[in-house]
Amino acid sequence: MRIPRSVRVADVDGKVVLVRADLNVPMEAGRVADDTRIRASLPTLQYLLDHGAKEVRVCSHLGRPKTEEDRAKYSMEPVRARLRELLSDERVTVLENTRFSPGETKNDPDFAKELAAGCDLFVEDAFGSVHRAHSSTVGVAALLPAYAGLLLEQELLHLGRLLESPEHPFVLVAGGAKVEDKLGVLQHLGSAADTVVVGGKMAEELRADNPLPFHVELPSDVVAASAFAEDAETQVVPYDAVPIGRLGLDIGPKTRERFGTIVRGARTIFWNGPMGVFEWPRFAEGTNAIARAIAESGAYSVVGGGDSVRALNEAGLEDKVSWVSTGGGAALELLEGKELPGVAVIPEA
Ligand code: 3PG
Ligand code: MG
Repeated sequence: MRIPRSVRVADVDGKVVLVRADLNVPMEAGRVADDTRIRASLPTLQYLLDHGAKEVRVCSHLGRPKTEEDRAKYSMEPVRARLRELLSDERVTVLENTRFSPGETKNDPDFAKELAAGCDLFVEDAFGSVHRAHSSTVGVAALLPAYAGLLLEQELLHLGRLLESPEHPFVLVAGGAKVEDKLGVLQHLGSAADTVVVGGKMAEELRADNPLPFHVELPSDVVAASAFAEDAETQVVPYDAVPIGRLGLDIGPKTRERFGTIVRGARTIFWNGPMGVFEWPRFAEGTNAIARAIAESGAYSVVGGGDSVRALNEAGLEDKVSWVSTGGGAALELLEGKELPGVAVIPEA
C-alpha cells in the first residue's frame, strides 16, 4: 500500500495547522451519543501541540445537512464542547460544520481557499472521510503542504492487513442504512471475502433485488414492529413474510444464531453497519449478537463505521476486537482496493 508522508516529518513549530478530522459522530437529542471519533482525533492534536504548533484549527463535517433548519441540528457546538472536555488547550479551535458551506461537497476551490487562509500546513486525519473528494479533504491539499495524521496512518496500517494477506475464512458483515453507498462497494468485495453476511436495511434491498454477482447470507427471520417506535409491539416472522403494515427492525433469533456461527468460525472479520435499529433495546439483539460473536471468534477483527462502533462500545466489547476503525464507507472502499482521494493527494513518504 502507498504510504503518505507523515505529520511526524513536518516542522510544525510556530505554525498554524489546519487539521481535517472526522468528527462526524452519532448525535442524539442534541448531544454526542458516541465520542469514539473525537477521542480518536486526540493523538494528532496532542502531537501538534507538543511540537509547538502556534494554532491548531480542526475542521470536520457533521451529518448530511440539507436545509436551513438542519443548521441547528448539525452545529459543531456539542462536538466542540466534548473535544474541549477531553483536550483543553487554547491553541485548538474547531471550525463550524464544513457542509454548511455549499462548496464543500463539490470540492469548490473557493471554499478550500477559505479553509486554508492563514494556515501553514494541512494534516489529513479524517480517515472516515478520505473516500470523499471534498474541499476539506482534497481541495485544501492543493493549497497547503499536506501530511497524514497519526490516526490516518494507523488506520491504513490495520486495514492494510485485511487487504494484503487475510487469514481465511474472511467474513464480511454488512448492514446499516447507507444502502446506496455500500452496495457498489460490496460488488467488488465478493472475491476478497469467503462469506458475505448482510443484515439491516441493506438486506431488505438485496432481498427485493440482489445485483451482487455472488452468494450473500441474508436473514431468514425478522423482528417485525407494529410501528417505527422504540416501544412498538413486536413479533418474529419469516423474513419473506413480513405482514403488511409491519416493519422489520432487527434480524430474528434463527438468523442471529446462523450469522453468529459463521462469524465465530472466521479467522478474519470486517464488520460495518448494524443489523437493525440497535439504538432501541427491543431491536438491538441482532447487532449485539454480531458484536458478541466477533468478540468470541479470536479472529483478526476490524469493526468500522460510526454506528457499529457505537454498538460495540455500548456492549462493552471494544477491547475484544483487533482494531476499531473510525471509517465505515472509507474502510469499505479501501478494502475494495479503491484509491482514496483524501489519501492520494498527500505526497508519498
Ligand atoms: C461517515 O460517517 O461515514 C463519514 O463521516 C462520512 O460521512 P458521509 O457518508 O456523510 O460522507
Ligand atoms: Mg457512517
